Amino acid sequence: MQNSEPQKIYLKDYCQPSYWIVKTDLNFDIQDTYVDVSSKLQLRKNHTVNNDRLFLHGGELELLGVALDGQHLDETAYHCDKEGLTLSGLANEHLLEITTRIYPAKNTSLEGLYQSRLMLCTQCEAEGFRNITYYLDRPDVMSEFSVRIEADKQTCPVLLSNGNELERGELEAGRHFVSWHDPHLKPCYLFALVAGRLSYVDDLFTTNSGRDVLLRLFVEDKDLDKCQYALDSLKNAMAWDERVYGREYDLDIYMIVAVDDFNMGAMENKGLNIFNTSCVLAKKETTTDAEFQRVEAVVAHEYFHNWSGNRVTCRDWFQLSLKEGFTVFRDAEFSADMGSRTVKRVEDVSLLRSLQFAEDGGPMAHAVQPDSFIEISNFYTLTIYEKGAEIVRMIYNLLGAEKFRLGSDLYFSRHDGQAVTIEDFVAVMSEVSGRDFTQFMRWYKQAATPELSVSASYDEQQRTYSLNFKQSCRVTAECEYKKPFLIPVDISLLGEAGKLALNVDGLTNTESEDNTKLMLEIDQAEQTIVFNDVCEQPVPSLLRGFSAPVKLSFAYSEDDLLRIMAHEDDGFCRWDATQQFLLQEINAIRATFKAGNKPSLNPRLLELYTSLLADQDQDLSLLALMLTLPNEKYLAELDTQVDVDAIHQARSWLELELAKALQPEFLACYQRLNELAHEPYSADAQGVANRSLKNKALHYLALDGSTLGLSLAEEQFHAASNMTDELAAFRAIVHCMEVDNTTRRERALVSFYEKWKDEALVVNHWFSVQASVAAASTLDDVKALFKHEAFDSLNPNKLRSLVGVFCNANTWCFHAKNGEAYRFLADEILRLNKANPQIASRLLTPLTQWRRYDGVRQALMKEQLERIQAEPSLSKDVFEVVSKTLADK
Ligand code: TRP
Ligand code: ZN
Repeated sequence: MQNSEPQKIYLKDYCQPSYWIVKTDLNFDIQDTYVDVSSKLQLRKNHTVNNDRLFLHGGELELLGVALDGQHLDETAYHCDKEGLTLSGLANEHLLEITTRIYPAKNTSLEGLYQSRLMLCTQCEAEGFRNITYYLDRPDVMSEFSVRIEADKQTCPVLLSNGNELERGELEAGRHFVSWHDPHLKPCYLFALVAGRLSYVDDLFTTNSGRDVLLRLFVEDKDLDKCQYALDSLKNAMAWDERVYGREYDLDIYMIVAVDDFNMGAMENKGLNIFNTSCVLAKKETTTDAEFQRVEAVVAHEYFHNWSGNRVTCRDWFQLSLKEGFTVFRDAEFSADMGSRTVKRVEDVSLLRSLQFAEDGGPMAHAVQPDSFIEISNFYTLTIYEKGAEIVRMIYNLLGAEKFRLGSDLYFSRHDGQAVTIEDFVAVMSEVSGRDFTQFMRWYKQAATPELSVSASYDEQQRTYSLNFKQSCRVTAECEYKKPFLIPVDISLLGEAGKLALNVDGLTNTESEDNTKLMLEIDQAEQTIVFNDVCEQPVPSLLRGFSAPVKLSFAYSEDDLLRIMAHEDDGFCRWDATQQFLLQEINAIRATFKAGNKPSLNPRLLELYTSLLADQDQDLSLLALMLTLPNEKYLAELDTQVDVDAIHQARSWLELELAKALQPEFLACYQRLNELAHEPYSADAQGVANRSLKNKALHYLALDGSTLGLSLAEEQFHAASNMTDELAAFRAIVHCMEVDNTTRRERALVSFYEKWKDEALVVNHWFSVQASVAAASTLDDVKALFKHEAFDSLNPNKLRSLVGVFCNANTWCFHAKNGEAYRFLADEILRLNKANPQIASRLLTPLTQWRRYDGVRQALMKEQLERIQAEPSLSKDVFEVVSKTLADK
C-alpha cells in the first residue's frame, strides 16, 4: 500500500547484491495467534560490488530484535522502514540474527506464511519471503537452508520444510519440534514450510541409477481417496524426465501438500511442492477428464522445475520465462506423450490465440523478457508462460530433437547451481548448433504478436509457385519500431491428389527424409519464396503444427480448406481448417444479420460435418474439437472493434442451426458412444476421447430445448458414474433457459448441490455452471450466490469459479450495455485490493480490453477503471494494471 506512486524497476538497472548469504538458519516458533521467526544469516561480502551497506527486503513485519556477531543492536544501529532493513559499515563476514513476529491467520493475501483451513503454509514466489523475515529476497542470492519448527503437537502434528528431516523431538507443554536441512543451494522464493493436521499417502519411485525416492502426498483426511492419480502422474513425470532429458531427482524424499486457499495452480518449492487442491486431488466421481489432465500436467510441471528452475534458477525476475517458458514446453511435451499429441497442441494453440494474443493486443502487453515492471506478480502471464513455451518450441524445431538435447545437457551442466539469464539459455543452443540467434532474440525482446500475411501466385508456364510473406507487428510501449522476427514456417503444398514434392532453390530439408514438407525461415519484413517444378495450382498448408506464434492470414477459399482437411496429415492444420471455415461462416452470418436479412445454413458446412461425423476411425477428441465453434473470446479477439452482440447472435444462431440440421447424426453418435458408458472408467486418451465426443453430441442435442435432448441429458445426469458425464449433463440442463425446462433445471440445481455439497471442488463447478448461463438474469444470480453458504469471498478458487467465470467466460453477459457487470467487478476489485492484491489484479483482466469496444461500453468501463484508480490505498498490483490500462491510447 503506497503513499507515493509505486516505482518501476528496470532490467537495465540490475546489479549484484553487496553481500551473499552463505547459510540461512531459521527457527519458527508457532504459537496460537502468531509465529516468531528467528533467522541467522551467514553473510559474506561480494567483492565485485564496492559497497559496505546491506539492504534486506521486509514487508509489514514486527521486528523483535537484531544482533550482529552476537551483539544486540539498538535502533540507532540500523535503519528500518516498510521496504526493509539497512545496515551499514559492514566488514567481510558477519553473523546477522534477526527476530520477527508475524500473524499468519490475519494474512489474507496468501503470500508469505498464511493459514489455510487446518494448516499454516507458505507461498514465497515471487517476493513473499520478505513477509516472513528480513532477507535478500532476490533469486540470485542462493543459500544453504536449515529450518527448525516448533509447535503444539495436537494442532500441528505435521511440521515440514525443504530437503531432508534431520531431527525431531518432544518439548514441554505438549509441544514438539522437527528440523530440516536442504543440501541444495536455493533462493528464498523456493523456501517452504507447512504445519498442521494432515494425513498422507506414500508411494515409491526408483530412479534410473537405482536410488529409491519416497513420494509423499499430504492432504486433509477426507481427501485421502483422491491422491493416487497425482502420485501416478508424478512417477510418470520422473520417468519421462530421465528418458527425455536425462534428469534424475536429487533428494530422497519428494513431498506435495494440497491446500485449499492458493493464488495460483501450484508451487515448485524444493522437495516440498505446495499445490492448489484443484491441481492435485482427483478421482473419477468428482473430477472431470479436463481436470485429470490438468492434475497430470501441473504435477509434471512442478516436478520438471526441479531442474528447469531450481537447480538452474533465474538471475532476476525479468528472466522469469527462463524457467516458466522452458518448463511449460517440457510439460506440454510430456502431456503430448501421455495422451493425444494433436489434441494437446490444439488446446494450447486455442488458449494462446484467444487469451495470449489478447494480452499482446492490450495495455499489459510485454516482452517475454520484459524490460520493466512495477509488481512482478503481474508478470505471471500467458505471455511469460505460453508464449515463452512457444519460443522454446521454435528453438526445438529449428535445432531438431538431438541438438536440442545436446543444448539442454550443456545448459544443465554448465549452469547447475547458478542463477542465470535467458541469454545464457539461448547461448548453449547456439553453441551446440552453430546457429546465430541474434535475430531470433527479438522474440524475447519485442512485445506483441507478429502478423504474417501471405499471398500466392502460380505460373503455369514456368511451373513455379510463389509465396509472398509480409510481416508486421504493432507498436508497443517498449519499442516503437519492430524489427523483423525470424518466423519458422512449416509448410506443405497440397495438390488435388495429395502432397507435392517441394523444391526451393538453395533449401534442403535437413531434418527429415520427407520431401513434402519444409521449414521456411521468414526473416525479412517482406520476402518471396519460389517453389520449382510445381505442376498444378496447389493449396499451401502453412504453419503446420503452429510452427510460430503469429497471426497468419491467407485468403483461403472453402475449396482450399476442404483440401487441407482431406490431404493434410498434420492434425493441427486439419482442425485449423475447420476453424477457418467456421470463422468465415460466422462472418457471413453477421453480415447477413447486419443487412437485415435472415441467414441460411451453408450446405457445404453441413456436408463437411456430416462426413466428419460419419468417420469412425479418427481421433474422436480431435473430432469433438472440430465440432466446437470458436468461442466468443476468440471471435472478439479477431474483431477490430468488438461487437459482442453481433458475435453472440451469429455464433448462437450457427450452433443452433447445426444442432437442428444434424440432429440424427448427433443422436446416432451419442447412442453409439453411450453404449460404452458402462465400461470401466479410464482417464486414458481413448476414454477421454469417447466421453468428449459423446458429450459434445449431447450438448448439441440439448441445445434446442427439445424433450429428446433434455431427457437424454437428465438420464445421463442421474446414471453417470463419473464427473465428466455428470457435469456435461448438468451443464446441458442448466444452460437451457427455455420456460419449459424451468422445473427440470431447478431440480438439477438442487440435486447436484445436495449430492456434492461436501466436495469443495465439485461445488466450484456448481458455481461456474450458473455463472456461465447466457441470460440477462445471470448477474443477479451471481450476486445471490455470493451469499450462498458454500461461498467464501476470500478463497481464490471460489472467486475464480464465480467472478472469474462470469467476467471472462460469459462475455456477452459481462458486456451487457447497462454497465452493471462492470460496476459489480469494480466493487469486487476494490474489496480484494486490500485482502488479496494478486487476485484483485488478475480479476482486472477483462477491463484492460476497454479500448476495443464501442463508445458506450468504453465510457462505462473507463468510469469503473477511474473509480478503482481513485482509491487512496491501491496495492502495487492493482495500481500497475489500472494505470497502464487507463494510459492506453
Ligand atoms: N512458479 C509457479 C509455477 O508456475 C507459479 C506460482 C505459484 C506463483 N504460486 C505463485 C507465482 C504465487 C506468483 C505468486 O509453477
Ligand atoms: Zn512454473
